[in-house]
Amino acid sequence: MCPLPLAAAAVAAPRAPLRLLNRGLTAAMSTARSLKSVDYEVFGRVQGVCFRMYTEDEARKIGVVGWVKNTSKGTVTGQVQGPEDKVNSMKSWLSKVGSPSSRIDRTNFSNEKTISKLEYSNFSIRY
Ligand SMILES: *[C@@H]1O[C@H](CO)[C@@H](O)[C@H](O)[C@H]1NC(C)=O
Ligand SMILES: *[C@@H]1O[C@H](CO)[C@@H](O)[C@H](O)[C@H]1NC(C)=O
Ligand SMILES: *[C@@H]1O[C@H](CO)[C@@H](O)[C@H](O)[C@H]1NC(C)=O
Repeated sequence: MCPLPLAAAAVAAPRAPLRLLNRGLTAAMSTARSLKSVDYEVFGRVQGVCFRMYTEDEARKIGVVGWVKNTSKGTVTGQVQGPEDKVNSMKSWLSKVGSPSSRIDRTNFSNEKTISKLEYSNFSIRY
C-alpha cells in the first residue's frame, strides 16, 4: 500500500485558489514557452517503495503529463511532457528526490526533444 503523507493532502486544499490563479497565468504564458518531451529511467531501490505513486503525485503537482511504470529489470521508466521549466523540475525530482523509501542510484534521460503539443492529457501509472 502506498498512502500519501497526510501533510501533502493538508497543504493541497488551502492552496487551491492560488493554483487556479497559477493555471490561468500558465495558460496565458503557454504560447511563449516551448514544450518539451523526455524519456527517463530510474535505477536504484525504486520498486516496492511507492515510487510510481509518488512520481504520479509529483508530476500532477508540478503540472506535467506523461506516464510511469516499473520494468522487469527492477527499474522505473516513463515519459514526461510539458513546458520546459516544469519538465526540468520533474527531471530534478526524478534524479534527486523520489519517494521517501527509495534510493536513487542514477537516472538517465533520452529522446529529449521539443514538441508542438502534448501527447497525453494527464500523468498516469501504466501497468
Ligand atoms: C537508460 O539506460 C539504459 C542503459 O543503461 C538503456 O537501456 C535505457 O534504454 C535507457 N533508458 C532511457 C529511458 O533512456
Ligand atoms: C513491477 O513491474 C514488473 C513488470 O510489470 C513486475 O514484474 C514487478 O512485480 C513489479 N514490481 C513491483 C514491486 O510492483
Ligand atoms: C489519462 O490519460 C490516459 C492516456 O493518456 C487515459 O487513458 C486516461 O483515461 C486518462 N485519465 C484521466 C483521469 O483523464
